[in-house]
Amino acid sequence: MFVLGERVRLRAMEPADAEALWWWNHDPEVMRWMDAGYAQPLVQVRTWLEERPRNAYGDVLFGIDAPAKPTAGTAEWQLIGLVRLSGAEPETGCAELNIYLGEKEYWGQGYATDAVRAVCRYGFEAMRLHKIALTVVTENDAALRVYRRVGFVEEGRLREVFRREGQWLDKYTMGLLEGELK
Ligand SMILES: CC(C)(COP(=O)(O)OP(=O)(O)OC[C@H]1O[C@@H](n2cnc3c(N)ncnc32)[C@H](O)[C@@H]1OP(=O)(O)O)[C@@H](O)C(=O)NCCC(=O)NCCS
Repeated sequence: MFVLGERVRLRAMEPADAEALWWWNHDPEVMRWMDAGYAQPLVQVRTWLEERPRNAYGDVLFGIDAPAKPTAGTAEWQLIGLVRLSGAEPETGCAELNIYLGEKEYWGQGYATDAVRAVCRYGFEAMRLHKIALTVVTENDAALRVYRRVGFVEEGRLREVFRREGQWLDKYTMGLLEGELK
């Protein structure tokens, strides 16, 4: 099953996607505003994809496919990033959203906006969520533009929870209620 946006399609991740993820996780520009964690070998990333439980209410991970560039040969689609809804609980109807695009030549063309809209629509319609929440570093202007455009609003500020280049930075908590998706 695909979840379709206007230009992207969201699909289950495959073990064969491990190499792309591994490269993205080693790209300082991609990881600039993300919690990088500790370095993982490629085999670990592949094992994680092979062994993670199937997508279900509490954790849905999608690969974001976009139309491949003509230079990509015969492939029609190119994996450009990931989007995830995790931690959903029936009692609260709330899940957390995470997104990143690892293929930088696809940045700034509306793909993240399309993918966030598609996954939020899926969350509200198919999963019957009431709310989708996220946190974002207050300096991450591109991500803030995406989230605000689709209807997320700032709900709070977590002080000095992210460290980058020797500085402590704040994060916003943001939320989108059922019916607020734009
Ligand atoms: C943040 C991210 C998801 C945005 O993806 P995208 O496909 O480029 O987003 P969109 O094109 O839909 O919209 C981004 C907007 O920010 C703008 N933008 C891009 N880089 C920017 C920057 N450094 N400063 C300000 N605005 C920027 C784009 O021009 C676009 O402007 P618009 O609102 O006029 O269209 C992507 O850059 C990314 O994955 N970054 C690395 C990981 C990350 O930060 N993830 C989010 C963690 S909360």
